[in-house]
Amino acid sequence: MSVAKNIIRADVRALSAYHVPDATGFVKLDAMENPYTLSPELQQQLGAKLGALALNRYPVPSYAALKAAIRDKMGVPSGFDVVLGNGSDELISIVSVACAKAGAKVLAPLPGFVMYAMSAQFAGLEFVGVPLKADLSLDLDAMLAAVREHRPAITYLAYPNNPTGNLYDIDAMLAIIREVGDTGVVVVDEAYQPFAGDSFMPRLPQHANVVVMRTVSKLGLAGIRLGYMSASAELLAEFDKVRPPYNVNVLTEATAEFLLEHADVLDEQAEAICAERAKLAAALAALPGVQAFPSAANFILLRIQQAGLSGTQVFERLLQRKVLVKNVGKMHPLLENCLRVTVSTPEENAAFLAALQSSLNT
Ligand SMILES: Cc1ncc(COP(=O)(O)O)c(C=O)c1O
Repeated sequence: MSVAKNIIRADVRALSAYHVPDATGFVKLDAMENPYTLSPELQQQLGAKLGALALNRYPVPSYAALKAAIRDKMGVPSGFDVVLGNGSDELISIVSVACAKAGAKVLAPLPGFVMYAMSAQFAGLEFVGVPLKADLSLDLDAMLAAVREHRPAITYLAYPNNPTGNLYDIDAMLAIIREVGDTGVVVVDEAYQPFAGDSFMPRLPQHANVVVMRTVSKLGLAGIRLGYMSASAELLAEFDKVRPPYNVNVLTEATAEFLLEHADVLDEQAEAICAERAKLAAALAALPGVQAFPSAANFILLRIQQAGLSGTQVFERLLQRKVLVKNVGKMHPLLENCLRVTVSTPEENAAFLAALQSSLNT
């Protein structure tokens, strides 16, 4: 027996690592990144700021100034605070670990963001998935029944959802939140909030069992790895105990503070992406053999509906044309023949559309 076989959990050994394909030389439309960079002036100012940081020191773990800027600029309700994470991936992990009592369960609609189930497994929680309806809306009856049966410690509702891109019906979400009551938390994951046109954040004060989770990744800062979550002071105090004390590094902290002072730049980029989303959706709707689902995010889910042509074949033809999207067809039966494409610049969207068109016709 090797050391790994002796000591690593069997379920971990059975896993394959999270796969990130090499995108060198491709039009990269697989990871919901913002395609825009900062202006040279802002880059210079930021560079000077980062160059002057005391890299020899640990971050001050209260992160007081950054948290204040987030509360101020991101619509956190008055009297509410935030806990910061190394991306919202880490926040999901923190919530999972904090709630991992023996026998505790995690509930989420499927298809959904894969880290909900992965983090649950890592923390030793049982994951229960509830399929969405065929139109990708929440199956409220099935969700309520699952809450009653499993009494999940954590229920995730991504608003909007990844990989489907839709906003769930808010009344259905409220019914789930009521049903969960004080036996669990409902994490409203707003990773795509900059493009959504709605947010649960203003409703947070009415719900003692809700956590609103966000990230700056889709806003244009995926590289700095920063997420934040807001909830009641009582819940945040417990989650904060599980957070590694210096989980946000000084470069991330200073970059986020700087860019929150220039939030208008990121807001303009999000607006441009929303305008491009409308154009891309219209172009896809006009393509025979393709069904594009409505999106409140910076990506569009589409289904290949051409006889004799699978989503995987189109994905591979796109690769040959140097366009990388995400093939989600195998993720869940509801996503058969589906691809997910990031909304990008006018040029990259045009390149994608041309590649898609020729992939359908060959
Ligand atoms: C719904 C959802 N939540 C959270 C995340 C993680 O974001 P972060 O980059 O902050 O870890 C993603 C990333 O794709 C996502 O789709």
